[in-house]
Amino acid sequence: MNLTPDAAGADVHVALERVDMAFGDRQVFRGLSCAFAAGKVSVILGGSGSGKSTVLRLIGGLVRPQAGHIFVAGEDVTCLSERQLYGVRKKLGMMFQGGALLDSLTIYENLAFPLREHTSLDERAIAAAVHRRLDAVGLTDVDRLLPSQLSGGMLRRAALARAIILDPVIVLCDEPFSGLDPVSVKRIENLLVQINQRLGITIVLVSHHIASTMRMAEHVVLLLQSDDHHPGTTAVAGSPEELRQSSDPRVVAFLTDECDDGDARAADVAAGNT
Ligand SMILES: Nc1ncnc2c1ncn2[C@@H]1O[C@H](COP(=O)(O)OP(=O)(O)OP(=O)(O)O)[C@@H](O)[C@H]1O
Ligand SMILES: [Mg+2]
Repeated sequence: MNLTPDAAGADVHVALERVDMAFGDRQVFRGLSCAFAAGKVSVILGGSGSGKSTVLRLIGGLVRPQAGHIFVAGEDVTCLSERQLYGVRKKLGMMFQGGALLDSLTIYENLAFPLREHTSLDERAIAAAVHRRLDAVGLTDVDRLLPSQLSGGMLRRAALARAIILDPVIVLCDEPFSGLDPVSVKRIENLLVQINQRLGITIVLVSHHIASTMRMAEHVVLLLQSDDHHPGTTAVAGSPEELRQSSDPRVVAFLTDECDDGDARAADVAAGNT
């Protein structure tokens, strides 16, 4: 059931091949391989500290591995200079853990900022692009508001609008659901699926939220740390159904433990499953 990582494969948009990653003497990955298909919604699962955010940072070229290769839209980002990475990053939209809008700028300016930095659009075109993206995430009348004046769910939607402002081909999202009420979780989930389907954007998202993952993911990568029986980091990959039916005790334990958490139950309440 493991997807064979093959950077040459036409439908693989992002692939990690035998990646070793350490921060100082803290070894996060040893020999990690996994792949994410073009045009699909893929979700990375794993325990806290298993390295999910690190995978996104490696894909974005924000940190470099000690060994291995990372292919993003056909380019090995481990071999690129900072300047070349800049070009790859333009193809990526990133929504980081916590949203990360700039607190001192209005929502309009937060979205306009990447356009001012990376394009030569005039103010009219910038305004049109900003409003098109705000419309796409269902936000109106927020131009003049500061991030602190938005609710948690609105903030995530604004962060998502900013992540797609430069028309990326891949969007990376770190925990877009954490801390949200069940209705907002559903809304962000639907938005991500819409963005994927309407714009054909590849989505790689990190989540703790099993219920949501099982609803929206076409492909799941579960990160498992090495133990006495399994040297190196294992990425168990497959469709949500394949993971659910897995007989691997580590997969079963992860899905059972995580499904016991409040987030998953809350989402079930919202979905009318209880
Ligand atoms: N800049 C850094 N310096 C040192 N250690 C780091 C750094 N970034 C991450 N780590 C370590 O790498 C490991 C993986 O971190 P990461 O943030 O990727 O985990 P995660 O799976 O996203 O966790 P969570 O679910 O809690 O967000 C952790 O042990 C963390 O302490
Ligand atoms: Mg994280």
